[in-house]
Amino acid sequence: MSVTVRVPAKVNVQLAVGAARPDGFHDLANVFLAVGLHDEVTATPAGERRVTCEGPDADQVPLDRTNLAARAAEALAARHGRSPAVHLHITKDIPVAGGMAGGSADGAAALLACDALWGTGASREELLDLCAGLGSDVPFSLVGGAALGTGRGERLTALDVGGTFHWVFAMAARGLSTPAVFREFDRLAEGTDIPEPVASPDLLDALAKGDPDALAAAVSNDLQPAALSLFPELADTLAAGRAAGALTALVSGSGPTTAFLARDAGSATEIANSLRASGTCRTVRTASGPVPGATVL
Ligand code: C5P
Repeated sequence: MSVTVRVPAKVNVQLAVGAARPDGFHDLANVFLAVGLHDEVTATPAGERRVTCEGPDADQVPLDRTNLAARAAEALAARHGRSPAVHLHITKDIPVAGGMAGGSADGAAALLACDALWGTGASREELLDLCAGLGSDVPFSLVGGAALGTGRGERLTALDVGGTFHWVFAMAARGLSTPAVFREFDRLAEGTDIPEPVASPDLLDALAKGDPDALAAAVSNDLQPAALSLFPELADTLAAGRAAGALTALVSGSGPTTAFLARDAGSATEIANSLRASGTCRTVRTASGPVPGATVL
């Protein structure tokens, strides 16, 4: 017997970052949108806890206990006083270290898969609490759709979305470390007054209306200057997508994946083809959102 969970990637349509807190984290106003690029995690009974991974970037995925899927199994097992022995197999399609919450997605998926496999019967609240312990973006991977994350991003309020948004994602030749991007944010912000992060009313309104032009005018990412500072070539990818007709172009989360909003599915395909031909990125994918969060298949 085994349980498979499908889990989406995310793009941040707004990422407002406050000053570093005493615990090193940053308060955020983080507007997440789940998009249709998916990983799958299959949990199967085994004699010991083991993680395997397949997919184009599988060689970049750590299989030890730093893997969030492994940590999810351990956290759930510890909470319920049982052994974490389980085989977790990840079928990876979300870019690794890409700013699309790929690791977080696997954590949320493993948690749900182990809960179902072990019959733990954890409540939604307990699962969300365990997710928050694994990482700031993990609760959103569980719930999906669209949500505002406050605190370090883990406290979620679901958002209404009035339509489907069509995106193109350009994956970069190498990854970026999220802590390194936040450190660069701190360095660039030194000596400046950093305002409290707040969600943009125009952006929430654009989401509620499902209006791509209004969303394009309202997106923002406070981590983008830091990601560009560490990875200057991303400016070429952003420019190529804009030139190809994207309504807006931005770095996804801490990067280095870049995200391009298209007016419709046809336009997304055209932008994707231009980006592929531009030679400014490794691979290009189209995906739309919102889509549901982690789901048992
Ligand atoms: O929560 P998570 O483990 O995903 O965060 C990874 C790293 O990103 C943290 O160790 C921290 O350096 C940075 N971070 C932050 N503020 C947040 C979320 C993440 O500084 N709100």
